[in-house]
Amino acid sequence: MRLQGKRAVITGAAGALGRVIAQRLAAEGADVAGLDLNAAGLEETAELVRAHGVRAASATADLTDFDAVQAAVGGIVDEWGGVDILLNGAGGGAVSLFHEMTYETWMTQMDRNLNSVFNVTRAVLPSMLEQRSGRIISIASIAAVSGGRLVRGATAYAAAKAGVVGLTKALAIEVAEQGVTVNALAPGAQATPGRDNDTPERREALLDQIPTRLLGEPEHLAETVVFLASPAAVNITGLILPLDGGHSI
Ligand SMILES: NC(=O)c1ccc[n+]([C@@H]2O[C@H](COP(=O)([O-])OP(=O)(O)OC[C@H]3O[C@@H](n4cnc5c(N)ncnc54)[C@H](O)[C@@H]3O)[C@@H](O)[C@H]2O)c1
Repeated sequence: MRLQGKRAVITGAAGALGRVIAQRLAAEGADVAGLDLNAAGLEETAELVRAHGVRAASATADLTDFDAVQAAVGGIVDEWGGVDILLNGAGGGAVSLFHEMTYETWMTQMDRNLNSVFNVTRAVLPSMLEQRSGRIISIASIAAVSGGRLVRGATAYAAAKAGVVGLTKALAIEVAEQGVTVNALAPGAQATPGRDNDTPERREALLDQIPTRLLGEPEHLAETVVFLASPAAVNITGLILPLDGGHSI
């Protein structure tokens, strides 16, 4: 129970990785508030969290909307008295070759993967600074580091996730003396339902680019979140942790 009594906010909590992380944090004793667009999915996650005997809360919000996020996070902070852990997990890619990409696709990717991280982090941080402690962990992507070599047509996603990497490092420096750490994960391809439609050829081509020839397991990713949120990681900040089977070496 490394996170007993901690209060966590997880964005994308209705999604594949967010749900696994929510359950893992709850198993370690943390209360979990989920934020997502998907109300039904949030409720399913909340049920799984409550099964661990901790508090669960849900707020349905479009995280690209600054005011809606301020209101949703404000409600959680008021109810729980603060937030100890923020996991920025909402996001997702869209494939589009650069020479054909519309401005709308570009901006949608920035909104979903970068501006949402600004909005939620901006809403949560004041309460962390006030209590002089907090852990902010964002899910970037190995695309931010390797240029999205696993998928052609990932420029907007890679650029947005690289923005998350820059935000992580700069904010880590800004708040280091105030007891708040800021880190990011850079996962490669994960064994999530998004991969279920891979053809055998596509799967082979993917594994050929991963030295371990393994997809990431969501449970392993969730374990790194627990570690970064735990007391043992108090002096780790500004880290961009690849979880990619060596793809980015
Ligand atoms: N699955 C992978 O292989 C992989 C690899 C690298 C990085 N990532 C990143 O990990 C994170 C989670 O991925 P996943 O596989 O769980 O994806 P997912 O699609 O299963 O979950 C993403 C969740 O984010 C929510 N979301 C998206 N836009 C939103 C918005 N504007 N407002 C509120 N909620 C919104 C969706 O409703 C969904 O529940 C994403 O940021 C993704 O880019 C995933």
